[in-house]
Amino acid sequence: MAPSGEAPGSRPPSSPPHAAAARGGGGRGLLQRMDKGLVRHVVAIGSGKGGVGKSSVTAMLAAELRRRDLAVGILDADITGPSIPKLYGLTGPLADRGEGIEPATSRSGISVVSSQFMVEDEQTPVIWRGPLVTRLITQFFGGVNWGALDYLLIDMPPGTSDVPLTVFQTIPIDGMVFVLTPQDLAALIVKKAMNMARDLHVPLLGVVDNMAWIACPHCHERIELFGPSRVPKVAAEYGIPVLGQLPVVPSISELADEGRIEEATSTELGALADAFVRSVDEVNQRSVRTL
Ligand SMILES: Nc1ncnc2c1ncn2[C@@H]1O[C@H](COP(=O)(O)OP(=O)(O)OP(=O)(O)O)[C@@H](O)[C@H]1O
Ligand SMILES: [Mg+2]
Repeated sequence: MAPSGEAPGSRPPSSPPHAAAARGGGGRGLLQRMDKGLVRHVVAIGSGKGGVGKSSVTAMLAAELRRRDLAVGILDADITGPSIPKLYGLTGPLADRGEGIEPATSRSGISVVSSQFMVEDEQTPVIWRGPLVTRLITQFFGGVNWGALDYLLIDMPPGTSDVPLTVFQTIPIDGMVFVLTPQDLAALIVKKAMNMARDLHVPLLGVVDNMAWIACPHCHERIELFGPSRVPKVAAEYGIPVLGQLPVVPSISELADEGRIEEATSTELGALADAFVRSVDEVNQRSVRTL
């Protein structure tokens, strides 16, 4: 497929209903933050590098929040490597009745928007140039009928590319959570991503130490496959909390493959959701105090 402006088989979203920046076409230098609308909290979930479990953690955290009867949405900002639809077993296309895009809804009622819904099948790559990616991100926020949400989670692509920059500059995010793995020898990459957020005045809410240990199938003892995790040290350096430590759970891959990751539950996920809610509340209280 030619790396042109738009992927064959893709369907560009129509005009957003509100959000001035989304209407502005996302031109560099013209970016401005959109309104939050009826969304109470917007939190980006990212990492420095790929494959650390961002999407899985985002999808499982959203499901955990949903189990508490909260209204939750996920904006899949990984335009070229979208994975949320697959994790929830969702397929497109999304409806657009001329008044904005209707998100897809997972089995438990989580609203989802993803570039995956704009291609004909799972194997079709999404190849869009930077400016269109920027526009798509703003439209995924401002051009979607998210309705009233308690939490909108943004599943970020890894690294420090155009997408995080666009998210930070145009979406009114409360803060960002970083997913790390214990063997993060690539802590430098993580720090680059964390520094980028901090430099752009995005509050760092905390880190998730994913795949921190595995339970012995016989005695259930915790085995730290990569030795003691370095994640708490990285969190301490930034003065932010470790919101949760999740074990390697082999059934997660199975649930993910079957589009049933919402069914994953554990004490650790519950604790992560509690810490996440607390951290978002705290950062909001801090920003009210500094007004
Ligand atoms: N706690 C866990 N236990 C077992 N497997 C896990 C866990 N977390 C993630 N995985 C597996 O690790 C792989 C990568 O996870 P995932 O796709 O969520 O990472 P990612 O950071 O979003 O990757 P990308 O950078 O490609 O977007 C997947 O196969 C997923 O099933
Ligand atoms: Mg991902």
